[in-house]
Amino acid sequence: MTDQRPLIYLDNAATSFPKPGCVGEAMVEFLAKKAVNPGRSGYELSLEAGLRIDAVRKSLVALFGHSTLEPSRAVFTANATDALNLAIAGLCRPGDHIVSTVLEHNSVLRPLHMLKKQGVIHFDLAPCDERGYIQPEILAALIRPETRLVIMTHASNALGTVQPVVEVGALCRSKGILFLLDAAQTAGLLPVEMASWGVDLLAFTGHKSLMGPTGIGGLLVGPEVPIRSTRWGGTGVRSAQPDHPDEFPYRLEAGTLNAVGIVGLAAGLSWLQEENSAETRSRKMGLANRFLAGCRHIPGLKVTGIEPGEELDPTGRIPVLCLTLENRSVEEVGQFLDTDWNIAVRTGLHCAPLAHQALGTGREGAIRFSFGPFNTTEQIDSALEALTAIATRTSG
Ligand SMILES: Cc1ncc(COP(=O)(O)O)c(C=O)c1O
Repeated sequence: MTDQRPLIYLDNAATSFPKPGCVGEAMVEFLAKKAVNPGRSGYELSLEAGLRIDAVRKSLVALFGHSTLEPSRAVFTANATDALNLAIAGLCRPGDHIVSTVLEHNSVLRPLHMLKKQGVIHFDLAPCDERGYIQPEILAALIRPETRLVIMTHASNALGTVQPVVEVGALCRSKGILFLLDAAQTAGLLPVEMASWGVDLLAFTGHKSLMGPTGIGGLLVGPEVPIRSTRWGGTGVRSAQPDHPDEFPYRLEAGTLNAVGIVGLAAGLSWLQEENSAETRSRKMGLANRFLAGCRHIPGLKVTGIEPGEELDPTGRIPVLCLTLENRSVEEVGQFLDTDWNIAVRTGLHCAPLAHQALGTGREGAIRFSFGPFNTTEQIDSALEALTAIATRTSG
């Protein structure tokens, strides 16, 4: 049946798809005409490529609300996982205590686990409430004299809940603790005000709501943050010196950058600006609300962390919903949606096992629907029809 139905892509929390046409076009043009090694050589094309990359650093510090930050402190990484690993490894010292939350993605949980196993750090995770929100006072109670860093996701990729960043930022500031924000799900979707929120480091990925290609992300490092290099190598500057340069961006960038990815990311940023990201967000939230309203009529369907009849709080949620169907495994539902309806969703734990555990779906996870700027109301209605079909099907 798949052949007869056009694809309905509802897995935008994994990566946005499709990308705006301008993203691929910019990358192809760059590859054809400009893609020399940026900033490594003195000839014009190399200098031009370097300047183009620096302009993207400038856009990023403005986008993330830190316009006074030196653009070189926006360093490029492969993705958010890479940025989070870089931040954690570059900051943590033996004996440090870290506070994070149960809502984190494995890209935070696993580096913390590994450093703990190696005997370098110890950490505590703040629990969330029954709706999937961290309570700042509960997180505050975990802080100890040796706590050096708080790491929190801006929004849960499994539950779609937006976390109290402003309160946690103020708490960190009052205690002199570094605050690392994982904006993988919110960059390009929600406003981020790094400076006024007290965020010291911000990790983002380019391929979700920033609409860029895969393989590009970054870390913004606030002033005075004592982060060390974790990789050493070629930078194109001071090559005779054995020590890796200390200044940004070289301190955290070794080797040739993904210039093609950066150009694609820049095109995604321009597209968002032209489309008006606030309007794009409200369109996506409208689709999520339509989906949620339809879910109420499907027998045995439970939306994780949401009370029956509840509407999505436009500031407290992103357009990501997890659900389960009574008497159907999440795998079975995912497969049915794929093979019978050509609907792409993500089932399982979404790399956030503790978030699922906290909301009662820790065993097999849930079915996640996440909406993007190119989804339509007709697609939402088809997804609801498909869920109704499997929920009311009598034989397994
Ligand atoms: C909250 C959160 N953090 C980090 C990541 C990792 O992003 P990436 O796969 O781009 O490294 C994701 C990806 O889904 C995420 O949702």
